[in-house]
Amino acid sequence: MNDLQQEIRELAREKKAIILAHNYQPPEIQDVADLTGDSLELSLKASETDAEVIVFCGVRFMAETAAIVCPDKLVVFPRLEAGCEMADMITVEDVEALKAKYPGAPVVTYVNSYVEIKAVSDICCTSANSVNVVKSLDAKEIIFLPDMNLARYTQRFFPDKKIHYHEGFCPFHDILTVEDVEKARREHPEAVFMAHPECRPEVIDLADVVRSTSGMLRYARESEAREFIVGTEVGLLYPLKKQNPDKEFFPASEKMLCKAMKIISLEDLKRSLETLSPVVKIPEDVRQKAYRAVARMLEIPRN
Ligand code: 13P
Ligand code: SF4
Repeated sequence: MNDLQQEIRELAREKKAIILAHNYQPPEIQDVADLTGDSLELSLKASETDAEVIVFCGVRFMAETAAIVCPDKLVVFPRLEAGCEMADMITVEDVEALKAKYPGAPVVTYVNSYVEIKAVSDICCTSANSVNVVKSLDAKEIIFLPDMNLARYTQRFFPDKKIHYHEGFCPFHDILTVEDVEKARREHPEAVFMAHPECRPEVIDLADVVRSTSGMLRYARESEAREFIVGTEVGLLYPLKKQNPDKEFFPASEKMLCKAMKIISLEDLKRSLETLSPVVKIPEDVRQKAYRAVARMLEIPRN
């Protein structure tokens, strides 16, 4: 660890803070965090920790999820402007319109959404548990938002259900094409192709495995394969290589880079720990409604 990272660790101890970082965060942030993980692991950790302060390094919807499950803790998010282009693609009016179109259908909302959307949803899901979440519902018709790619991936597991979806998407996963994958496969013919469920259906069709970010980390650790083409945001290359120094990892496309995930710097993190700001604030009535949907998800067993 460099001097700045050591100062951050010291400040975290002093302030009784836990630093959570998403798997796409820059390497120097991941290295200084108490825990790195996918959206589900980070939500679970936030709901279980006894630290007084959670400093969240990721994008705003993730910090909001921590604030939703931990109303008695201070959730510090170093750069409030780090949003998510997929979360920006849906409004409460869009959700109300879907509810009016499919009355009675439960609303399953990907955690990659803002708190106002979660507040008008029945249950949340992440890319690691969308299938288990839909399985937990008796309904034959389901409304799924905001990611149409995760919705269509989840639909594959339920021939007897109809998943209606909002047409949002992650620009940094949806950008991956069949041509990109074919090119990567030509260059690395022995490699396993891992795709994130936020990728387009025709890309999913080419995948050897489809996993959340932490699912990919687990798969790469446990697999006998030596080479992997990584079909998710390029930030995941860092923990993949760190955990598997004897294996090789190739991005499916260099275009898969989420700028919002790279905004928080070590300097921002240090300043946030010193000042315990900026804090994620959610009106209590909205938080309580969103809490129901997140808590219902957290009760569902993992595979
Ligand atoms: P997971 O880490 O939960 O797979 O999420 C991917 C993502 O796009 C987060 O923004
Ligand atoms: Fe949002 Fe996509 Fe960035 Fe994840 S990778 S934060 S879904 S824009």
